Amino acid sequence: MIIEPVIKGVVARSAHPYGCQQAVRKQIDYVKQANPIVGGAKRVLVLGASSGFGLASRIAHTFGGAQADTIGVSFERGPSEKGVGSAGWYNNIFFKQEAEKVGRIATNIVGDAFSQQVRQQVIEAIKNDLGGEVDLVVYSLATGVRPNPETGDMWRSVIKTTGKPVVGPTLNLETDSLAEMTVETATEQEIADTVKVMGGEDWASWIECLTEAGVLAQGCRTVAYSYIGPEVTYPIYHHGTLGRAKVHMHNTAEALNSQLANIGGQAHVAVCKALVTKASVFIPAFTPYILALFKVMKQNGTHEGCIEQMQRLFNARFYNYGGVETDEQRLIRMDDWELAPEVQRQVSEIMAGMTADNFTQLGDYTGYKQDFMELNGFGFAEVDYQQDISLESLKALQP
Ligand code: NAI
Repeated sequence: MIIEPVIKGVVARSAHPYGCQQAVRKQIDYVKQANPIVGGAKRVLVLGASSGFGLASRIAHTFGGAQADTIGVSFERGPSEKGVGSAGWYNNIFFKQEAEKVGRIATNIVGDAFSQQVRQQVIEAIKNDLGGEVDLVVYSLATGVRPNPETGDMWRSVIKTTGKPVVGPTLNLETDSLAEMTVETATEQEIADTVKVMGGEDWASWIECLTEAGVLAQGCRTVAYSYIGPEVTYPIYHHGTLGRAKVHMHNTAEALNSQLANIGGQAHVAVCKALVTKASVFIPAFTPYILALFKVMKQNGTHEGCIEQMQRLFNARFYNYGGVETDEQRLIRMDDWELAPEVQRQVSEIMAGMTADNFTQLGDYTGYKQDFMELNGFGFAEVDYQQDISLESLKALQP
């Protein structure tokens, strides 16, 4: 079969396995020539390892200087009669192949990170594959649902505001168009449910479970990722349901930091830059901002993708001899270049003139779409998209 891109709204319904391989290789090549991570963790558990910031964290630790062995947990779909499977499925497979080529251990666990079963599998893997302990736990899950561990019912997150409804243009990647959409006000229940799904509770529960199992090394650290953004996006993000969940996560980092002090460990949140990932394309009314931001940061030479952000985080901020570099709230600000006043001034100027007719010229729509296609393994010059790929050959690839 010939695998072609299929996009529905903002969701990719197909992925190209060898394009995903190329995407992984491109990230590996980047970190190999970047400033190396010095003094980095050697045994790393990444929750949410198959795409976005989690995959980039894993690649940075394995190939960007630390030479870490890793366990990666993700929720992905393999090939079947219904389709070729998800991009993250192939990212896991090809990451592992590359890691093993350089003698590193890379264990992939594909399953629901919220379940007890996956927690047990991870503990077993730490014991069997990583010598019984990890030095770093990266928490990078992004999802819309989480089962209540007591009842099994699902909590569902919503992307809404908590103030007045916000009307803003929202992107459709299938039709390359912007359309007005209203971001409604969340109910108290919706806010609480979003905090359950995207806040810090599950992160804390993972750390508790790993502590009880005795698999956190002396000095073990943990990091989770957050977003704040500039004031123009506060109604949609920071003051919206997702922002509430992130505040919960920031508070969780404080609690975990105190707990981990018992073993000389630490917990941090890194506040990252707005980027195109499988998760972020869902945020309504956010696109004009990202399109303008990409345009300005590329012009200024300060634009970064997930891999550049993660390599800079671990190279320059996280493993410093003088301690982790944070702001006064103890947050690691990887959004520093995004929030630079001159960048934001230029972004606001572009956004003020952006309409459904001119967004492809005023903003960096070409770059945005290219990033989205690459997330799913499309748009790489190095890949032969006309090659005939059999389902059987894909089924033979195992994570
Ligand atoms: P992503 O969608 O690229 O990756 C999410 C990962 O979570 C994938 O590996 C997926 O398989 C895994 N996952 C989801 N549900 C799971 C489950 N039930 N069990 C096991 N694995 C599961 O997301 P992205 O954007 O990298 O997000 C990671 C974190 O970074 C999130 O906390 C997000 O809020 C944060 N962040 C994202 C920004 C962006 O612009 N994309 C900006 C700043 C922070």
